Amino acid sequence: MGYDAKFRVWRGDTDGGDLQDFTVQANDGEVVLDIIHRLQATQTPDLAVRWNCKAGKCGSCSAEVNGRPKLLCMTRMSTFTEDEVITVTPMRTFPVIRDLVTDVSFNYHKAREIQSFTPPEGLKAGEYRMKQVDVQRSQEFRKCIECFLCQDTCHVVRDHEENKEAFAGPRYLMRVAELDMHPLDVAERRNSAQEEHGLGMCNITKCCTDVCPEHIKITDNALIPMKERVADRKYDPLVWLGNKLFRR
Ligand code: SF4
Ligand code: F3S
Ligand code: FES
Repeated sequence: MGYDAKFRVWRGDTDGGDLQDFTVQANDGEVVLDIIHRLQATQTPDLAVRWNCKAGKCGSCSAEVNGRPKLLCMTRMSTFTEDEVITVTPMRTFPVIRDLVTDVSFNYHKAREIQSFTPPEGLKAGEYRMKQVDVQRSQEFRKCIECFLCQDTCHVVRDHEENKEAFAGPRYLMRVAELDMHPLDVAERRNSAQEEHGLGMCNITKCCTDVCPEHIKITDNALIPMKERVADRKYDPLVWLGNKLFRR
């Protein structure tokens, strides 16, 4: 059965904007993205929204529903009551381009700052041999769909534009951890995690884990183990002695 849903949608661009109220039909089994599409079809043909797969796999339709970072295509209308006003706003951490579409290039810059997979010298592609048990831990991280909801929610940058330069965010700290766990990666990851990618700024609030649509345990399985590895290195007496003797 259909009903009239009450929507409040942020509309605007780089010069600013405001929330606008709409009443729009909702039907059984629909998700918030269906309603946004119906709004485009019936009332606001120029409403900008980014989407692609409508199956929770492309990571494009990230926005905020009632202030919580969500994929619009995976947010069921049945999770709201029929008289509830549903507020849809663009991701707050990134600059708005128009309406629900944000400029997420911050994330691409952060991705590029991480040294790519570095196998031992002389080992050619096709000669990589690894045991399943050695790659098991990091396989979970490969489920990431790059929706950037974790980057959007992390308080280190959400309300602190000034931290963006020093902090890679949970998605990319997870990438550093993934490479550090890789049995064939020989690049130095631990110092750079701390000094170049801002691992120390994460105070393990786990908000990133809470919003991940792939249910990746970002904090417990990537960030905390990475912090432990960094600490091991720092407090390892041999590493300490080596630094004292050779790093003058
Ligand atoms: Fe999205 Fe999860 Fe990947 Fe973060 S880790 S970008 S929340 S899929
Ligand atoms: Fe931010 Fe996640 Fe750490 S939300 S503070 S990166 S645990
Ligand atoms: Fe692809 Fe929502 S449209 S994840």
